Amino acid sequence: MSSLTIQPGGPLKGTISVPGDKSITHRAILLSALAEGESVIVDYCRGEDCLNTVRSCRALSVPIEETPDHLRVQGKGLWGLTEPEAPLDCGNSGTGIRLLTGLLAGQDWFTVMTGDDSVRRRPMGRVVKPLRQMGATIAGRKGGELAPLAITGSRLRGITYASPVPSAQVKSALLLAGLYAEGITQISEPRLSRDHTERLFRYLGIPIQQSVQEGRFTVRIQGRPAIGWSGRRDLRVPGDLSAAAFFLVAASIVPGSEVTIQSVGINPTRTGVLEILTEMGADIQLFNHREQMGEPVADLRVRSASLRGTRIGAERIPQTIDEFPILCVAAALAEGTTIISGAEELRVKESDRIATMASELGKMGAATTETPDGLMVEGCQGRVRRLHGATCGSHGDHRVAMSLAIAGLAAEGPTRIEGTGCIDTSFPGFATKLLGLLTHS
Ligand code: S3P
Repeated sequence: MSSLTIQPGGPLKGTISVPGDKSITHRAILLSALAEGESVIVDYCRGEDCLNTVRSCRALSVPIEETPDHLRVQGKGLWGLTEPEAPLDCGNSGTGIRLLTGLLAGQDWFTVMTGDDSVRRRPMGRVVKPLRQMGATIAGRKGGELAPLAITGSRLRGITYASPVPSAQVKSALLLAGLYAEGITQISEPRLSRDHTERLFRYLGIPIQQSVQEGRFTVRIQGRPAIGWSGRRDLRVPGDLSAAAFFLVAASIVPGSEVTIQSVGINPTRTGVLEILTEMGADIQLFNHREQMGEPVADLRVRSASLRGTRIGAERIPQTIDEFPILCVAAALAEGTTIISGAEELRVKESDRIATMASELGKMGAATTETPDGLMVEGCQGRVRRLHGATCGSHGDHRVAMSLAIAGLAAEGPTRIEGTGCIDTSFPGFATKLLGLLTHS
């Protein structure tokens, strides 16, 4: 099993870039596969999650050239995919399996979708149920609640669906299915989840309407468009704010640090982490604002600062959903208490992130109290109690592994994180990048 040992140290100094946004990369691959002609996706996320989506598209007969710098996708058009010969393996990727399930529900052939242990534990009913309402024929373990899923091609019809959870994966799966459905597909959610699919539809010229109806965020598309969309050679993926977040916290908590992170996506449906860290006292500046692929982008500069505890409630969870593990680290090193609530979705991520962060930070001496829908973290900055190095486990969760590495920078003594191979699902080269910023003064 791979492991990573972190020695406390620093400060962190320098300018870096982070991998391309994972969510946007998945969407760019899928919509390029369905485009007419060639697309070139630059600065994409080379994590295993996205590479599994590349492999799945190839198995659906889409030629994709992969180099470290770009993906060159020969789109087959909306109706040009063909039946794969073997099950599609999405690995650790919930986004991959859910979006592909939506896309494949309306094909007139058979597919089996599966993934690793973690993906096979994650709830699939949230996409299977509405897809069945659209007419899809999907079988799976526990009545379709768990993968593997077997999809038999069906003719889909548009539906109006009110999702009980704000989820970009559910919304995007239904939008992709909606492209194949007769009539209009309308999805609403109680809070706005990340809107990368909607933005990419617009960027590619696929008609989509967004509105707020009776307090619910609603999106609507007309299925079976008469003309498809062309491939694009200028799909430059913004850097992933969820990857940048590890460095934002690292530089904040290690005294004397100053780090610049170039070309990071700052889509407002994702920027909860910037708002929360700033509220906690972090010194983060955004500059050089611009746009890429219809997404706002900026460079971020972070300098070390004293952090204080805060409250994070349900209304802020969708914009911060993937940053919970690293925010727990910030909270453990802040002055005062941080209370996170309304975050029960965190229990069905790559790991149960409420339980894993409570147990692993606990091993380093953090005082945490788990609740059914969140966590209370008592900070320790400025007090006698500090984090101490320990041997921790990643629970196979890339964001937990990276968060513990950052905690290790501010602990007393070395921290060993076991099971760090999972970091490659989203951030190959994370450790090298982190060590490259550490100055040994
Ligand atoms: C994602 C949506 C979120 C997020 C995940 C990526 C996406 O999941 O946690 O890492 O790309 O659509 P949910 O849709 O389950 O909230």
